[in-house]
Amino acid sequence: MKLLITGANGQLGCELQRQLREGACALGPIPERLKNATVLAVDLPVLDIADRAEVVAFVRRQQPDVILNCAAYTNVDGCEVHREDAFRANAIGPANLAQAAEKVGARLVHVSTDYVFSGQENGGISLDEAARPAPQSAYGETKLLGEEYVRQFCRRYFVVRTAWLYGRTGKNFVRTMASLGAKPGHLEVVDDQRGNPTNAEDLAWHLLQLAVSHNYGVYHCTGTGVCSWYEFTREILRLTGGVAELTPCTSAEYAQKHPGSARRPAWSALENRMLACTIGDHMRPWQEALADFFATGGFEN
Ligand SMILES: NC(=O)c1ccc[n+]([C@@H]2O[C@H](COP(=O)([O-])OP(=O)(O)OC[C@H]3O[C@@H](n4cnc5c(N)ncnc54)[C@H](OP(=O)(O)O)[C@@H]3O)[C@@H](O)[C@H]2O)c1
Repeated sequence: MKLLITGANGQLGCELQRQLREGACALGPIPERLKNATVLAVDLPVLDIADRAEVVAFVRRQQPDVILNCAAYTNVDGCEVHREDAFRANAIGPANLAQAAEKVGARLVHVSTDYVFSGQENGGISLDEAARPAPQSAYGETKLLGEEYVRQFCRRYFVVRTAWLYGRTGKNFVRTMASLGAKPGHLEVVDDQRGNPTNAEDLAWHLLQLAVSHNYGVYHCTGTGVCSWYEFTREILRLTGGVAELTPCTSAEYAQKHPGSARRPAWSALENRMLACTIGDHMRPWQEALADFFATGGFEN
């Protein structure tokens, strides 16, 4: 079997490569068929997924069985300013990959986000795959368009929405808070936005299980349980012995201090209903997955 990972240097791409190399993770072994797979891991500048001619030629030459798209413009605030870059990576890129996958009969596993939802508080009910997207940021808008192109242009697709993702490499919220929390000082963190922290290890394992199944469609795949950014930070500081003083703030207070920041959903907790109905939902409670992340080495660099 031949796998192509795009955006392979990002935090999810690195975790996928690690599991394909090691054959297992904390959740168990990866599928037998993938243990000796040929893995082509590419990122910018080798393969720009927004370059249609390049993508089509690359996929035609390599003939992968599965494409795992981890490439995206993930800077949520940056997307508001750099809309063209966000559009290219998050919408045009997936469209190109979907068309190329269809041409060679490959499956496409495409990763999307909870930010496709409006995030209006809805009485605390988690959003399943039947919920209607209504993005309120440029990041969410471009990611939703990417999802739509994938569904339109290829038949064998998995669109997998995740949230609040952290892994061993690259930049993420856990790394930022662990580092800021290690120094004496004062941290103010938003307490009125709630979602599901997700360990990239758990997500990657489910992506590989899906990749060898025939259960095509749209999936939610996030850590189990809901918290606010403030509660998430409190747990990060507890696990890392952080010394900074932590206080909650509202989104309005944060926005006042950070003009130009993107609007984020107040409630974007997802329910992994389709996973439960197909390959099984083995996502760990977010506190357990976070504790295990630090217990097994935390950040790589
Ligand atoms: N991070 C989160 O909290 C979060 C939450 C929900 C969903 N997601 C989704 O999960 C997926 C993986 O996210 P991640 O956190 O692993 O992202 P990441 O660490 O930012 O990695 C994305 C990778 O894609 C590359 N890239 C950007 N534009 C590209 C292009 N046009 N062609 C090829 N590669 C390109 C980036 O390169 P450069 O670094 O050089 O730009 C980077 O190496 C994405 O689809 C993201 O939207 C993430």
